[in-house]
Amino acid sequence: MDEPHTAARETAPGEHRKRILTGDRPTGCLHLGHYVGSLRHRLAFQHDHDSFFIIADLHMLTTKPSKDDIEHISEHAREIVLDHLAVGIDPAAVTFYLQSAVHEVYELQLLLSSLVTVERLQQLPTIKDMASAAGLEQIPYSLLGYPVLQAADILLPRAHVVPVGKDNESHVEITRQIARRFNSAYGEVFPIPDAFVVGGTLVGTDGNAKMSKSLDNAIFLSDDAATLRRRVRSMYTDPKRVHADIPGTVEGNPVFDYLDLFDPDTAAVDALKARYRTGTVGDVEVKAHLLEVLEAFLSPIRERRADYAARGGFVDALIVEGTLRMRDEARETMKAVKQAMGLTGAWNRIVRRAEKAHKRAE
Ligand code: TRP
Repeated sequence: MDEPHTAARETAPGEHRKRILTGDRPTGCLHLGHYVGSLRHRLAFQHDHDSFFIIADLHMLTTKPSKDDIEHISEHAREIVLDHLAVGIDPAAVTFYLQSAVHEVYELQLLLSSLVTVERLQQLPTIKDMASAAGLEQIPYSLLGYPVLQAADILLPRAHVVPVGKDNESHVEITRQIARRFNSAYGEVFPIPDAFVVGGTLVGTDGNAKMSKSLDNAIFLSDDAATLRRRVRSMYTDPKRVHADIPGTVEGNPVFDYLDLFDPDTAAVDALKARYRTGTVGDVEVKAHLLEVLEAFLSPIRERRADYAARGGFVDALIVEGTLRMRDEARETMKAVKQAMGLTGAWNRIVRRAEKAHKRAE
């Protein structure tokens, strides 16, 4: 097995880098929307922060996953890690871990749940949205606890910075409240984490405000050249333009949104926009240009992805190693938490000893 190396992770003595925690639910491969909304920011952070990337499978369980989703957790976890490596995340500089394999998170969620009211959770827009038609009284207890579980994720490695999209900002806000309450009730254990709201949503290829797998309007980082071509060719543009000589609208036109984000040659984009507005360029030509731009962006990503995927066992070993590292952190934090709360665990020790004695006697 090809072992991931960890040398670059070492910090010089006395150097304290801020710790980041962020991550994704393992619901599938990542697409350009994820790149714009989170991956590019994770790239920018990776070398001057200590980054932990959670694969939040427990969170997925709280949001009514399909049987298919559950069956594919392991596979999706691998794909997500591969997508990170493909865009240039350095496997030696960051820690990936599987949430459900860190048992302390279940424990910490329960302990933290005393520090937040049902009312506070019910008032969150995210919870209201997820409750949708059925109403707040009908949601499962686990869904109400989603933000508390996220607080446990963030506080377990005692993270300082949590880069999240606007939609998750309120969960970091609740985490701050919980951490403050814990510290003032029991003593300083947790740093108060800052949300770092990262920007950008990407419209879907169909013009829908958000790119998403479920809407089938996504360009995946792992799409091959033929799939990319098909996606770009069928992209939604200005519907009023039935002929190339009709002046078109650039604003809110996905083709130009993508060019703005991915074409490094802004002068060329401006020129194309000017021609589009005056009806002197056809959609076919604009799309051909976009295809070139996206292909130039995605082909090195595709190659790096294939290289890592070909290194047998590398990704699995990386997840295992990261999870072990996180477990060390988690054990340390839980020791501090229990000590602060005065939970001595005396009965636990007695029961564990008895259990061992029983086993020996068998
Ligand atoms: N809630 C995040 C999402 O929208 C995933 C997540 C779980 C997370 N735990 C986290 C993000 C901790 C940042 C920090 O999918």
